[in-house]
Amino acid sequence: MGVIERYRDRIPVIGPNTPNLTLGEGSTPLVRARRLGETLGVELWFKFEGMNPTASFKDRGMVVAVAKALEAGVDGIICASTGNTAASAAAYGAAAGLTTVVLTPTGQIAAAKGAQARAVGARVLEVRGSFDEALQSCRELADRGVFALVNSVNPDRIEGQKTAAFEINEALGSVPHVLALPYGGGGNTVAYCKGFTEEGVKPRILQGEATARATTLATAIRIAEPAHQHEIDDLDAQGWLERVSLSDEEIAHAWHEIANNEGLFCEPSSAAGFAALKHAELEKGSTVVCVLTGHGLKDTSRVDAMAAPSRLVDADADSILAEAMRP
Ligand code: F0G
Repeated sequence: MGVIERYRDRIPVIGPNTPNLTLGEGSTPLVRARRLGETLGVELWFKFEGMNPTASFKDRGMVVAVAKALEAGVDGIICASTGNTAASAAAYGAAAGLTTVVLTPTGQIAAAKGAQARAVGARVLEVRGSFDEALQSCRELADRGVFALVNSVNPDRIEGQKTAAFEINEALGSVPHVLALPYGGGGNTVAYCKGFTEEGVKPRILQGEATARATTLATAIRIAEPAHQHEIDDLDAQGWLERVSLSDEEIAHAWHEIANNEGLFCEPSSAAGFAALKHAELEKGSTVVCVLTGHGLKDTSRVDAMAAPSRLVDADADSILAEAMRP
């Protein structure tokens, strides 16, 4: 059951005429991380949003935004993206039979994400400029009424995205003490706060952001100016948020630890939430949920830099055994 069907009662923008679009998004696993939890002295869980249909958290909100665009009778949808929004918009646009235009900062998105968007027939335009500039142009085209904008500044995206908070509470049977996640444009943070507010709860929320926002190796969060800055400031003033600035080394190290200790392969940006946890004071034994926003297969560039290379070996059993036993 997808997000629209499962949560229709809790998403007010979904009405009787909203198409029941789905690619099977949501209901992602909450995985207990025993080894890393022990090192932090907490009960640690990873919400693996990389298990969504296009392998990132974007699908939850995208399904609602595209269903609403279809209901409104638009011909096409448009977004600016560091890659994941593009892949998600392209997939749901294809399923809805809409023309999909995605703008990406040229040469700066992980190759697999561009492939995902092209494979399902989106018009992928590489913009000579940053993500922020591409988003500005999208807003202009949406204002002209040519396309529906499906970036997270579209409130329908937030409505679908908030369901991740519902799922976490349901899976735990309680509210986590702490939720940690990456901070790029801030849409995901806003959505979790909305979801938790609607459940009447207020966990601590830790946002991990790249110190070098405009150049970070974590290309998914290579965003100089967060589009949701004002809402983030408001939530901050209400005592929701703790922000942690992270070096690229810290993000890469966290990525490596998650993979090697828990067997969960996420993309580098997704490790920013876990990296932020290490800066926080955590109460012993408290429940901590860390959101892994995208799958590692989307961005494998760090694997060569951070993981051991494969080794060449002759095909006989003795050579293989000798090599396999070498640390
Ligand atoms: N993690 C991943 C894997 C992302 O792709 C993004 C954002 C974020 C975290 C940050 O989330 O913006 O809601 O704070 N990706 C956008 C995109 C910008 O175009 O795919 P945020």
